[in-house]
Amino acid sequence: MNKAISGFSKLSKEEKIKWIADQYFSTPTEAIALLKNYWNTDEKIQKLHDEFIENTITNFYIPLGVAPNFLINGKYSTIPMAIEESSVVAAAAKAAKFWSTRGGFKATVINTEKIGQVHFIYKGDVSKLNLFFAQNKNKFFSETESITTNMQKRGGGILDIILKDKTDLLPNYFQLHATFETKDSMGANFINSCLEQFSKTLKEEAHHYDLFTETEKDIEVVMSILSNYVPNCIVRAEVSCPIADLEEKHITNPLEFAEKFVQAVQIAEVEPYRAVTHNKGIMNGVDAVVLATGNDFRAVEAGIHAYASRNGKYSSLSHAKIEHGVFTFWLEIPLALGTVGGLTSLHPLVKLSLEMLEKPSAKELMQFVAVAGLAQNFAALRSLTTTGIQEGHMKMHLNNIINQFEATDEERILIQKHFKKNTVSHSAVVSFIEGLRK
Ligand code: MEV
Repeated sequence: MNKAISGFSKLSKEEKIKWIADQYFSTPTEAIALLKNYWNTDEKIQKLHDEFIENTITNFYIPLGVAPNFLINGKYSTIPMAIEESSVVAAAAKAAKFWSTRGGFKATVINTEKIGQVHFIYKGDVSKLNLFFAQNKNKFFSETESITTNMQKRGGGILDIILKDKTDLLPNYFQLHATFETKDSMGANFINSCLEQFSKTLKEEAHHYDLFTETEKDIEVVMSILSNYVPNCIVRAEVSCPIADLEEKHITNPLEFAEKFVQAVQIAEVEPYRAVTHNKGIMNGVDAVVLATGNDFRAVEAGIHAYASRNGKYSSLSHAKIEHGVFTFWLEIPLALGTVGGLTSLHPLVKLSLEMLEKPSAKELMQFVAVAGLAQNFAALRSLTTTGIQEGHMKMHLNNIINQFEATDEERILIQKHFKKNTVSHSAVVSFIEGLRK
């Protein structure tokens, strides 16, 4: 059957669902019922979600969990996390509790500069282009005034614009490299609007510049777009305590633990295969908070991994040391986040998450996200260097298997009791359930 269709986006939601169900499902009525089962009963909320993207057919649930007891810069917070991976929220909550009695987390925003670029082709004398830019630089600021006025009132705006010669990388390739302060907004729309105006100004002014030849006047703008790489928009999160204070149930020898922990971090610093998994653990915390607060986790991911490679080799985002009997563990990551604009004022659960965080500024949100990443990394390394990761993971996974087999309440109690004492593996749980049902 030909499964291509034209004009799909113009169909109503019901028609779209019907078409999909008929094309792809052996039992279309069941598929339709399942899709509709996930619609929100509140029509206003459903309409809102329908309009976030094109061709919405239903909602895709991811749990919103919370990790309480995060003591950050002396203040307690409960952090909302949207994530599907079973052990992440439990691990965050455990790490938060652990550090709450050991001085808590310290978080600091180091800088908040965003970046955007106009990429263009100029065929001609580079010294003339430099002179042209120096003589016209003010125009890039004045001609974006209508866009920047509001941002300037909030203390932000365009910080600087420089001309970059990139012809060593690509023939005739130049950039206008601009830096921005966007305060509490992530700033994508603001930055892209400024850049598109820069591009117009660049072409127009070049066209009227007397020193340019006809070829030089003909500047070709390839594209104007913000960069998701923000190495000057950095937040630092840290925990530290005297080694003796690390002692608890799984840490009977704190010095041995601290040394092994530092070694685990050093391995991630020098070994990219480990660094990727180590950083993935950090992103478990980072993405969950970024998503819950309506920010763009793809942008955050791309920027953070580029930062992890900034010295030419992919490496750990976190670091650890023992100095004068004190254990310190910290990370620094680039984060371009917003607490106004975008989804933050649209998605009801995003609004709720931000309220739970007591309406943070973008800088405060950067701190929450970095702390969640560090907590997650601490929890993973603590398990990896002590009990191994599977103990905690499989405990959480047990519930998934129980649900997969649609266990009754009675079966659930028996399964959980049995696996308190026995090692959880998929096959062990399956054969135990089968045994129960015989
Ligand atoms: C799993 O989601 C994350 C870990 O693999 C992170 C790590 O290995 O550090 C446990």
